[in-house]
Amino acid sequence: MIDWESELEKLLNRPLDWAERNLPERYRHANLDMLPPERRKLAEAYLEQFTPESPLGNRQKNGLVLYGDAGTGKTFMAAAIGRELAARLGRHHWPIWREVHQLAQRLRDEIARTDSPSRRERDALIDSNRVLILDDLGAERDSDFLVEQLEAVIVRRYDDCLPLIVTTNLGLDEIKARYGGRVYSRLFEMASIVRLTGPDRRMS
Ligand SMILES: Nc1ncnc2c1ncn2[C@@H]1O[C@H](COP(=O)(O)OP(=O)(O)OP(=O)(O)O)[C@@H](O)[C@H]1O
Ligand SMILES: [Mg+2]
Repeated sequence: MIDWESELEKLLNRPLDWAERNLPERYRHANLDMLPPERRKLAEAYLEQFTPESPLGNRQKNGLVLYGDAGTGKTFMAAAIGRELAARLGRHHWPIWREVHQLAQRLRDEIARTDSPSRRERDALIDSNRVLILDDLGAERDSDFLVEQLEAVIVRRYDDCLPLIVTTNLGLDEIKARYGGRVYSRLFEMASIVRLTGPDRRMS
């Protein structure tokens, strides 16, 4: 089978980089060295479980929820973790990065395109044997359809013990109110829940 990525790399004459291919411009340079010491420690403790031999980490608790106010650095930290995972695990286990509000658009488009929805995007996220990073959960429009889709993704990843990293502006009560007790309770079991505090870095 032709490995198109390798072929493309040969053409471009440089390795394709996970951050370059997946992250929005602003976060492409994020890496663990740039995190404040406490966050770095947390990130490293989380990352310890992932090795090339166990690319899904510790199956019982391989999730991470970063929550907190706007501008506290949640996306930046998730980006730094994603970069490290990509480097550590190699291309076949590169994490999947999705901004939730862009994902919501894709899910809506999928439904709009056909009468018998194929749900390809949703199924890919549910089944993928890679770390899934959902950036900005709660940024999707408040619609039953989207909440249901996201609930399905989270519950299935929980059932299959697949790793999930979430960043969100929502407080814990808001997560519960929006996605329901089933999601809330599962997140606690499957993930370390970390609140990022501090000033809005965009304003300081
Ligand atoms: N450790 C860091 N070093 C350098 N810049 C950082 C760091 N953490 C965050 N930033 C920068 O601060 C700004 C805000 O961070 P970020 O976007 O990650 O916040 P957020 O918590 O995701 O906010 P929101 O909830 O609004 O999405 C960004 O420009 C980001 O690049
Ligand atoms: Mg963010």
